[in-house]
Parts: sequence; structure tokens; C-alpha cells
Amino acid sequence: MGKTGLQLSVLSYGSWVTFHKQIDDSIADELMGIAYDNGVNFFDNAEAYALGESERLMGRVLKKKDWDRTSYTVSSKAFFGSRGKANKPNQTGLSRKHLVEACHEALQRLQVDYLDIYFCHRPDKTVPIEEVVWTMNILIQQGKILYWGTSEWSGVEIMEAHRAAAQYGLIGPSVEQPQYNLLERDKVENEYLTIFNTVGMGTTIWSPLASGLLTGKYNDGIPENSRFALEGFDWLKDQWMVDNKLSKVRQLSDIAREFDTSLATLAIAWCIKNPNVTTAILGATKKEQLLQNLKALEILPKLTQEVMQRIDDKVQTKPKLPAF
Ligand SMILES: NC(=O)c1ccc[n+]([C@@H]2O[C@H](COP(=O)([O-])OP(=O)(O)OC[C@H]3O[C@@H](n4cnc5c(N)ncnc54)[C@H](OP(=O)(O)O)[C@@H]3O)[C@@H](O)[C@H]2O)c1
Repeated sequence: MGKTGLQLSVLSYGSWVTFHKQIDDSIADELMGIAYDNGVNFFDNAEAYALGESERLMGRVLKKKDWDRTSYTVSSKAFFGSRGKANKPNQTGLSRKHLVEACHEALQRLQVDYLDIYFCHRPDKTVPIEEVVWTMNILIQQGKILYWGTSEWSGVEIMEAHRAAAQYGLIGPSVEQPQYNLLERDKVENEYLTIFNTVGMGTTIWSPLASGLLTGKYNDGIPENSRFALEGFDWLKDQWMVDNKLSKVRQLSDIAREFDTSLATLAIAWCIKNPNVTTAILGATKKEQLLQNLKALEILPKLTQEVMQRIDDKVQTKPKLPAF
């Protein structure tokens, strides 16, 4: 992962939206089992997912599976709080108080002794960066977390954290969790380029399928029981179900057919083709989805430069970099 010694599987499995809301203990047990048996060694979670219930569910599965704790990694993220509308001041954000308390709560819910990776789920402009970096360093020294990272921070904010870490001889963030998929590319392919070359952050990218849009399942409307059909997710549906995005997805289907694979498999393989992607976090509500998505590793070698160019020509989403 970036410049650290930690090895993450190139595909990982996360619980946003799905755990507790869509899938129960028995399905989560089955899906985490399939992931683990196929080499996945990173499970992603956050305090805010299902207001803590996602961590509780993952914790119950991890306990039942009784896998060797040294064989997998698990994360949590703090910022949004776990109490929803009841969040009080100090129950959200990146203050030392919340980072420490959210860490303790995540450890209890996940039933583990330490988090392998602890993310700042968003930047917090109200907290001095020195407070964040010192807190993470202390949590590492206490053995409660092993690595820390950022999620959706700007390049400048990440570099500020590294500056503060270097100034005080502390451990800076070693991984960023940005959104990255065929339709959302700017942070990974443009904004962070200098950072990859200097401090060398790893990335655990999220929504490789743009919440499912890149499977093609929404090409002709919204299927029942799909994410965009869920109550309370209109904001997500409205973000993705727009003509210029759907038309790009439709165009990609030809290339997937040519390789005799699904669009989901192709779209995930495209993400992990980027050498700056450490791991793509998969989301899945069904066994069939997960098995299809794990096939991305088989398609990866077929993504030659020529194929990548044809994909770019179709989607036209490659960020324009300044000419030198
Ligand atoms: N740091 C952050 O801010 C942040 C934000 C979002 C996510 N994340 C992390 O990233 C993980 C992955 O994100 P994501 O869930 O948005 O990933 P995604 O791959 O973009 O979307 C996953 C969803 O798409 C549908 N799907 C997946 N594979 C499919 C297939 N083969 N065929 C048909 N439908 C399929 C399923 O939803 P339905 O079956 O319900 O349609 C599934 O839950 C999350 O679990 C979380 O750990 C982090």
C-alpha cells in the first residue's frame, strides 16, 4: 500500500449501503467468505455506515469466521459520526476527542483489538492539521491502529498533513480513499499525480462501478431491489441516472461483449489497471455479483494500451492534463 510495507489484495470488499440495510448476517457471512476464499484480505467499514450497524454486522461475521487475525485487514473511518441526526458536537469531525472515541467505538463494534487502517472520512477545516496528525500518531503508538489515511481530501490537504508529520517527526497518512471509476477520474488521474510521485500514497478506491451504473443494469430503467430503487437514495440516483452518463455506459457494452465478459468485470479491471490504485473496494449484495466482479483479475491482462485507448475514446472522461 503506497510506500508502506502493508500488502493489500488488489480487490477488496466494503459494506457501504449493503450491510444491515440490504444484507443480513447470513448473506454477509457468505459474501465475506467468498471474498476471503478468493484472496481478498481487506474489508472496509466506517462509523457512519448504517449508523454503526454495519460495523456490528461485520464484527459478528469476523468473530464467527474466526480467521487468523494476521491474515486479513479491516478498516474504519471517522468524521460523519454514528448517531445520525442525533449527533452532538464532538460526536463528528476530526477533533482528537472524536477520533479517539470513534476508534474505541469501532473496535468494540468490530470486535477487534486494532484497526489495520483508520481513515479520516472527510477533511475537517475546523481542526488544526497538527491535532489530526498527532492523534493518529498516538493511536498508532497505542497499538489501536496500524496505518492511517484520508478519504476525499484535496491534494493540498494531504500535503499539509505530510508537512505537519515531517515537522514533528510523526507518521503521516499513507493511503487515500477516493472515488474512482470510468466516470469519475480527476482526483486519481490528475489532482494526486504529484502526491503519488512524492509522498507516495496508496489508494483504496471506492465505487468502482459508480454504485452499479457501470454494470449496465440501469440502461433501461431502475430494477427493483437495486441501490437506486432504495428509499432515501434519490440523491445518488439523481447524480448517476443522467443521459450523458448512461449513454457512455451503453457504448462500453460492445467492448465487454468482445471479451465475452460482463461490463461490471471490465469496468473493475479498468480501475485496477491504473498502477496508482492499490485496491478497488467492491460492493455486492449477491453472490453472483461478487463472483462476477472478482473475475476482473482474469480480464486485466487483456486490457492492452490499444484497448484502453478504445475505452477512452468511447467514454471521453480522461482528465485533460496541462501541456508542458
Ligand atoms: N470513502 C468513502 O467516502 C466511500 C464512499 C462510498 C463507498 N466507499 C467504500 O467503497 C465500497 C464500494 O463502494 P460501492 O458499494 O459504491 O461500489 P460499486 O461497485 O460502485 O457499487 C456496488 C453496488 O453495485 C451493485 N453491483 C455490484 N456488482 C454488481 C454486478 N456484478 N451486477 C449488478 N449489480 C452489481 C450492487 O448494488 P445493488 O445490488 O443494490 O444494486 C452493489 O452493492 C463501499 O462498500 C465502501 O466500503 C467509501
